[in-house]
Amino acid sequence: MPKTAFENVAAARRQAKRALPRIVFDFVDGAADDELTMAENRAELARWSLLPRMGRGVFDPALATTVLGQPVAFPILTAPCGLVRALHPDGEPGVARAAAAAGTIAIISSMAATSLEEVAGAVDEPDRPWFQLYFIGGRRGADNLVDRAAEAGYRALVITMDTPVIGNRERDIRNRMPQPVQVNVRTALKLGPSLARRPRWLTGFIRDGMRVTFPNVAGMNLDDDTFTVPGARPALATEPPTWDDVERYRRRWAGPLLVKGILTADDARRSVDAGVDGIIVSNHGGRQLDSAPSSLRALIDVVDEVGDEAEVLVDGGFRRGTDVIKALCLGARAVCVGRPYLWALAARGEPGVHEILALLRTELTRDLVLLGCPDVASLGPEWVRGPSPSPRDPVSA
Ligand SMILES: Cc1cc2nc3c(=O)[nH]c(=O)nc-3n(C[C@H](O)[C@H](O)[C@H](O)COP(=O)(O)O)c2cc1C
Repeated sequence: MPKTAFENVAAARRQAKRALPRIVFDFVDGAADDELTMAENRAELARWSLLPRMGRGVFDPALATTVLGQPVAFPILTAPCGLVRALHPDGEPGVARAAAAAGTIAIISSMAATSLEEVAGAVDEPDRPWFQLYFIGGRRGADNLVDRAAEAGYRALVITMDTPVIGNRERDIRNRMPQPVQVNVRTALKLGPSLARRPRWLTGFIRDGMRVTFPNVAGMNLDDDTFTVPGARPALATEPPTWDDVERYRRRWAGPLLVKGILTADDARRSVDAGVDGIIVSNHGGRQLDSAPSSLRALIDVVDEVGDEAEVLVDGGFRRGTDVIKALCLGARAVCVGRPYLWALAARGEPGVHEILALLRTELTRDLVLLGCPDVASLGPEWVRGPSPSPRDPVSA
C-alpha cells in the first residue's frame, strides 16, 4: 500500500487507478454518455474567481458549522455511493468511521455493499450516518428500508430523486461490467491477466469472500418474495419516487428529511412544498442525465428559489478547498464529495478516507486565510465573481 500522503485529490485518483482493476476504477471514475455534465461540473467551478481581502488579520478561520442541526467540524460530507466495499474491504463501515473521526457526516447508500445495520453499528450513536434511499423493491421495498434505517439510528433520510433508471455509463458497457453492477468471481474472471497487476486489490477481494453485492436488497424479505440482486434494477424503475412519496416519508420519518438530485428552481419549490428540511443539489456526478446543468449553476437557481426555506447542500466535481468556498459563497450550507473519498479508500482504505477529508479541511482553512475571511458563516456573494464578461470588455460595452 502506498504510504505517501495525498498531496491533493488528484493524487488520490492516481493512486486509485494504480490500485484498482480497470473495470472497478472506471465504474467509479466514469459518467453518463459523453460525460459532458461531469466535465462541466469542473469547468463551471473554474469560471468563478475568489475575491481576497487583505490586511484583516485572519489566521485561524472557524470552519465548524451545523448541517440540519447536526454539528460538523467543517462543511464537507461524504456523498452516498453504492458498492463502496468493491474498492476496499474497509468498505462502508470504514467510510462511516473515517467521517465520524474527522468530525463530519457520512451519507450511506441503499446500494451499500454492507448491510445498513452493520454500517450504523460501526460508529457510536452521535456519529450515526444519514441514510440515502433508493426505491429498490418499489414502494414496499423503500418502506422496509426506511423503517430499518430508523431502527438502526440513522439521523437523516435522503431520498435520491434522479435515478428512475440507471444512467448510460458507457465505460461499464465497454468493460462488460455486469448489470446491475456486481463484483464477483465472474467479474473477476473477466479481468483475466490484468488482475495479476492488482495483487493488493485481489488479496482484499479474496479475503472479503470474493463477492461484493447488495445486502440491503438481497436480504430484503417482503412477505411473499425475497429480493434478489438482479431484481433490484427493474424494481427501481417500476416505482421511482414521486412528490407524493416525499410527502409520505415526511410523515413517516421523524428526523431531518432531504431530497437529492434537484437541479431546477421549480423542483426546489416542490421539495419545500413537500416538507423537506434540506435539498442536495446534484447531477449525480454526471452519472445520470448527460447535459444536465453543472452543480454550481443549479445551486444558484435553487438557492434563489428556496435558500431561506431549506438548507441547500451541493455535490458534483468538488475537489479543492477553493471549490467548496465558491459553493458556500453561493449559498450552500455544505458540500458533499463522492469520488474523492472513493479514490482515497481504494488507495489506502479507511485511513485514506480520513486523510482525504483532513486534506480538504486543511485546504479550506488555508484558502479562508488567503481570502481574509474569518469563518465559513461569513462567506457570501461578495467573495466571488462569476463568469459574466468584464465591464471593460469591448464586446459587452
Ligand atoms: C461509484 C459511485 C456510486 C454512486 N452511488 C450512488 C448511490 O448509490 N446513491 C446516490 O444517491 N448517489 C450515488 N452516487 C452519486 C454521489 O452521491 C454524488 O452525487 C456524486 O458522486 C458527486 O460527484 P463527485 O463524485 O464528482 O464528487 C454515486 C457516485 C459514484 C461515483
